[in-house]
Amino acid sequence: MTDIAALLLSRIRDVPDHPEPGVMFKDITPLLADPVAFTALTEALAGLTVRYGATKIVGLEARGFILGAPAAVRAGVGFVPVRKAGKLPGATLSQAYELEYGSARIEVHAEDLTGADRVMVVDDVLATGGTAEASLRLIRRAGAEVAGVSVLMELGFLGGRARLEPALDGAPLEAL
Ligand code: PRP
Repeated sequence: MTDIAALLLSRIRDVPDHPEPGVMFKDITPLLADPVAFTALTEALAGLTVRYGATKIVGLEARGFILGAPAAVRAGVGFVPVRKAGKLPGATLSQAYELEYGSARIEVHAEDLTGADRVMVVDDVLATGGTAEASLRLIRRAGAEVAGVSVLMELGFLGGRARLEPALDGAPLEAL
């Protein structure tokens, strides 16, 4: 494991039985509260954004906002929020996706992404991959290109990477 991966991992707190029994919640608030770790994470995400030639970062609500916005500033690119349904005030593109029980919907302002954009998606966790997969559909429906997906952590046992692979269409998935 690299030094940065070890630092980031050391600042993520496992919280058992949150938000419901049987779930081990990955709490990133200790990492956010540590300026050395938060800066290292921001620099790493910004570095991936530049390396893959992205012109925008799309952050996925809610923790993708906290990680993606400073990385966008650091990389010198724009930031675009993908929100849960009903939150954005303007004209949106909307994408439904399947959850274990039921479905969910995420949205983006249609005018925030254009055919000139290459987009790096940023989030804290890749779990089942459903949210990230839906975000890639939104980006392509807006006419933009996918530069990649960058997450702080990947929960490998949930199979998100395999689910996401077709939608990535050769673009990289980076888990720090
Ligand atoms: C979590 C996490 C990712 C998503 C990953 O967000 O921050 O966005 O789930 O899960 P998936 O890979 O199975 O789609 P959550 O939906 O809990 O929203 P929040 O950040 O607003 O609490």
